[in-house]
Amino acid sequence: DSTAPDARVPDRSAVRVVAHRGSSAALPEHTLAAYRLAIEEGADALECDVRLTADGQLVCVHDRTVQRTSDGHGTVSAMTLAQLSALDFGSWKSGTPEPVLTLAQLLELVADAGRRVELAIETKHPTRSAGRVEAELLRTLDRFGLLPRTPAESTVRIMSFSEMSLRRVRRDAPAIPTVYLLERRLPLRGRIASLPGGAGIAGPGIDLVRADPGLVPALRRAGHRVHVWTVDEPADVELCLELGVEAIITNRPREVLAQLGR
Ligand code: G3P
Ligand code: CA
Repeated sequence: DSTAPDARVPDRSAVRVVAHRGSSAALPEHTLAAYRLAIEEGADALECDVRLTADGQLVCVHDRTVQRTSDGHGTVSAMTLAQLSALDFGSWKSGTPEPVLTLAQLLELVADAGRRVELAIETKHPTRSAGRVEAELLRTLDRFGLLPRTPAESTVRIMSFSEMSLRRVRRDAPAIPTVYLLERRLPLRGRIASLPGGAGIAGPGIDLVRADPGLVPALRRAGHRVHVWTVDEPADVELCLELGVEAIITNRPREVLAQLGR
């Protein structure tokens, strides 16, 4: 039947576009401005990294230190929120000062978006924090009514390179979908039937996807959903579409959405 949909042709409109650190090619990463732009551009979801401050607040910062993305010096975990709030996280990229962003502020933005916006929250270096990152993350999500009863109703997923972190999330909030991030082949190869930390979604980096063409098909055959980061080149977007990934995590949500015809 020539009118039947071809299962091999991916449904472009179904692929989720996730704004990595906000619309971070255009505006300073992890700032309200970058996330606002991503929402305006039509991103389906926002990715952010979370770290604990010295006074137990979750802030959206990628690096261990603030040097690269602010005008200050120091380690996030050794600084209080007040100290971080005195820094400028915008001028290095856009010439416009931007404050540090707390997870709570990001959740407020999403709550006020006026449409469904999903969150892909990554726990950074949680091994050193003895579970405090996950505990505070789940407390904050609970405050915003974002702890789901079932995975299907969740608008949030939690990602990590740390198996231990994902295990803690699954123990304390089993209905939140979790994403096991991987940038190297191991330890996944031998354990493809069940992902580390009990994750339901695999999150390989695009370099790994390119280097190992059998990886995504093998993950999909094993029943896993696949979210790929950080996909900024049109050829890589095409590759992800051919491989049938569920989500594309990108610094350039506008360009990727345009490539998908949205
Ligand atoms: O979305 C996952 C990706 O962000 C992991 O790498 O270093 O950008 O946090 P990184
Ligand atoms: Ca990240």
